Amino acid sequence: MKVLVLGGGGREHALCYMLSKSKDLQALYCIPGNGGISEIAHIPQGISLRDFEKIADFCIREKIDLVIPGPEEPLVNGIRDFLFSKGVVVFGPDRWASQLEGSKAFAKEIMKKAGVLTADFMVFDNYSEAKVYIEKRGTPLVIKADGLCAGKGVFVCDTLEEALKALHDIFVKKIFGDAGNQVVIEEKLEGEEASYIVITDGECFRALPTSQDHKRLLDHDQGPNTGGMGAYSPAPLVTPEIREKIEKNIIAPVLRVLKEEGHPYLGFLYAGLMIVQGEPYVLEFNCRLGDPEAQVILPRIENDFLDLIKNTLNGDLYKFDIKEKKQASLCVVMASEGYPGEYKKGVEIFGLERVKAFEDVIVFHAGTQRVDNRYFTSGGRVLGVTALGDTIPLAIEKAYQVVSLINFDGAQYRRDIAKKALKYLV
Ligand code: AMP
Ligand code: GLY
Repeated sequence: MKVLVLGGGGREHALCYMLSKSKDLQALYCIPGNGGISEIAHIPQGISLRDFEKIADFCIREKIDLVIPGPEEPLVNGIRDFLFSKGVVVFGPDRWASQLEGSKAFAKEIMKKAGVLTADFMVFDNYSEAKVYIEKRGTPLVIKADGLCAGKGVFVCDTLEEALKALHDIFVKKIFGDAGNQVVIEEKLEGEEASYIVITDGECFRALPTSQDHKRLLDHDQGPNTGGMGAYSPAPLVTPEIREKIEKNIIAPVLRVLKEEGHPYLGFLYAGLMIVQGEPYVLEFNCRLGDPEAQVILPRIENDFLDLIKNTLNGDLYKFDIKEKKQASLCVVMASEGYPGEYKKGVEIFGLERVKAFEDVIVFHAGTQRVDNRYFTSGGRVLGVTALGDTIPLAIEKAYQVVSLINFDGAQYRRDIAKKALKYLV
């Protein structure tokens, strides 16, 4: 099969890595790719991820059998519907179902219909009504811009002042443009977060290995939110009992509602959860794999990855079991100085060749560029150093050993990835 992956982050490198080991893969392409992906996939030049026409032309010309979008933006903008109309097969949800991530108000409505546990909420489309509500209700509360905001649209507010500022920024200053035409205001939940991702054909689903992300920039969950500074899998917080609740009370009813609405969900469905005293609550849905979750989840899957996707497309997922490796995995994200704010690009990365000798270590590239076999930074999150080990502590040790061998000016990373898991391991 000829496969095109869309995206250029660590998640897409992990996708390409898995596909490159699949027996039926004939040729692998990636748009726009990155320095690491360019070692294992062809990168067609001059095609932007936003130019659906050019992507379709490329797929038709190169006889691409399957397109796998990594990030949410093309899905929410309807890449599946567009390419489908041109006869190109896409593994991902259609535009309507992608609103699960594209509109927080839409996601809440679906959850309500499906009877899924989630924070109590109200939706507002104007500033003054929302302001009156907040003043009456008081804090703490969480304010979310409705649309896609590259992970920046959520404000957890402990004081009235913070809440009013967030509301003003969204509605009046329009810092997120039209993505802030509506806001969801919801109750603040206290608990521990986990990511639960399934692969589904809209009816049958199979859970991928569990994982936990680290969204804050600094150790001990301090500092600003980021796209994710590291992850590990499995997440011992998600016990078999909790898994059962997630599948029975969240995934199955949501898939049923989407199907009843005439849009059976195809692809990866990601539930961002808060586990509150043993009960999983949904914070958000994403219509794709997580990043950096994919970097720890995918290497733990033993199945032939392309086979898994092909069978899901053919309606044969029910015949499959996901085989999880016993080993644990851990990903430490190395980011540019200044991230998640402004950062420099074009800084040379050293030490990558030293890492090749390590067994069970994969350095997934995110914001990198390869020029004459030298590597340079080209984004905020630069590398996802991923290690597998027999236990989480062994994976931690190996990943950080490798991190210490790689360097670029201003590199920053968290030192405490997966420390949260240790309390469950005694
Ligand atoms: P979201 O994009 O909706 O997952 O929100 C981003 C982050 O904000 C989450 O990972 C949580 O850390 C936090 N958050 C979102 N909603 C809530 C909530 N209702 N209660 C507490 N924290 C939340
Ligand atoms: N790591 C969080 C996300 O992919 O949304």
